[in-house]
Amino acid sequence: MASVEYTFWLQVLQKGFGFLFFGFTILFSFLSVLVYILRLKPWCSCDSCRSYLTSSWSHEFNNLCDWYSHLLQKSPTGTIHVHVLSNIITANPKNVEYIIKTRFENFPKGKPFSALLGDLLGRGIFNVDGESWKFQRKMASLELGSVSTRSYAFQIVANEIRTRLVPLLSSVAGKEGKVLDLQDVLRRFSFDTICKFSFGMDPSCLESSLPVSELANAFDLATQLSAARAISASPLIWKLKRFLNIGSEKKLKEALKLVNSLAEGVIKQKRNMGFSSQQDLLSRFMGSIEDDKYLRDIIVSFLLAGRDTVASALTCFFWLLAKHPEVKQAILDESNHIMGENISADNLASFEQMQKMHYLQAAIYESMRLYPPVQFDSKYCQEDDVLPDGTFVKKGTKVTYHPYAMGRMQSIWGPDCLEFKPERWLQDGRFKPESPFKYPVFQGGLRVCLGKDMALVEMKSIALSLIRQFEIQVNAPTSDTPRFMPGLTASVRGGLQVQIQERRTKSS
Ligand code: HEM
Repeated sequence: MASVEYTFWLQVLQKGFGFLFFGFTILFSFLSVLVYILRLKPWCSCDSCRSYLTSSWSHEFNNLCDWYSHLLQKSPTGTIHVHVLSNIITANPKNVEYIIKTRFENFPKGKPFSALLGDLLGRGIFNVDGESWKFQRKMASLELGSVSTRSYAFQIVANEIRTRLVPLLSSVAGKEGKVLDLQDVLRRFSFDTICKFSFGMDPSCLESSLPVSELANAFDLATQLSAARAISASPLIWKLKRFLNIGSEKKLKEALKLVNSLAEGVIKQKRNMGFSSQQDLLSRFMGSIEDDKYLRDIIVSFLLAGRDTVASALTCFFWLLAKHPEVKQAILDESNHIMGENISADNLASFEQMQKMHYLQAAIYESMRLYPPVQFDSKYCQEDDVLPDGTFVKKGTKVTYHPYAMGRMQSIWGPDCLEFKPERWLQDGRFKPESPFKYPVFQGGLRVCLGKDMALVEMKSIALSLIRQFEIQVNAPTSDTPRFMPGLTASVRGGLQVQIQERRTKSS
């Protein structure tokens, strides 16, 4: 009898605690949302905040980045403050240098960013600050800077062009009414390439049947859903959804499960087979890291870094070439001069030949000036600070530098800043780089992109072989700017629809 009573009171107590805990969680969440909202100043009625809150900017501009560019062009300092987002945005090179170099320690990626991408990237280089970042940076730069890694990457790219890209485009060339999404083809190319380079694994996304790759799809979904967390009204919303395992967070969990199991499978297989003689990045890291979860995180960061950036840059490059046939002709003329006029698929430019193509390099840089794959990049201010243009930055404020807007600033590039002019990068016919703080397309300072050289070789190789072998006609390239999808990397809404002809004549 006593034990029945005891069980009864235990249940009452448990229920009571349950209700109390639930009530406390709701109250706590409510208060946190309130504090969060109050910090964002939703009542701010300045023009920019009102326009942001009502989305009225979209009546005049195709993309949010075009509206920000407009605001930054009008600002005397090249800096704006969107109060409702607690976000300072700058296109001022002096501020950029200050944030990513001079006061690097005061502007880390910060916890809010790591939380957004934490489930996807874990402790990978993209998502960490401090010692963990330093360690990976040191290791990765040793590996990526070595001559053997570069030549390995070059071989992978050349092979993918010869055995997949060119045959695929040839198979649709000249077919009446056959339209191909070049953006999709380029994303498949860069996924195959970065997987081979990072894992030594070939997902074969660019096979002629354009197969559906489970890994590519799961990785895409995981990236999109992680990025979408950034636009939820408060971080508490996605955190609660994650806790309850519902909606987009449930989908994210499923996609991540697949990415993780495939990554773990590859790591296990490598351990069993022996990795010391293999050249891919994972095998190189495995020599000094035992922890499989850490290895998985490092490699996923590389997938993210190398996948969409290259495809995004090339998609906009071909979009611009369609509007500027004179630039395409100049690239052809330069390559004919250096490689001769034999345009067969086997005649790919060597690394040394590409180094001599200054106009090609200038055209690619100029294209990314107007259409950088990473349109903006944010840091979090650790302690109160003042930017070189006098802007006060309160601790905890998000500070964003905006390469997309910077490419459109007269104060940086002169009155012809909106024109696509590769010549601006040439001096006496030779490519002349600009300060990374005026052109932070690969970031700059201490966290400058580690894959820049590899990305440039990949882009130049693809651009050259497509321009030399095919006539690519873009359907409707007439609008002033492409429309972009929201995400970590710029991708064109609806893709880039093209029709392809094999180039028969030698140089025109
Ligand atoms: C056109 C192509 C590319 C562009 C425009 C680009 C741009 C960038 C940018 C803006 C960052 C800074 C991101 C941040 O800290 O928030 C970055 C970092 C990085 N990129 Fe790239 N990237 C490209 C291709 C690649 C490729 C192909 C690889 C790999 C092979 C790569 C590897 C990395 C790595 C490892 C970092 C992290 C560096 C660090 O945090 O210290 N990138 N890249």
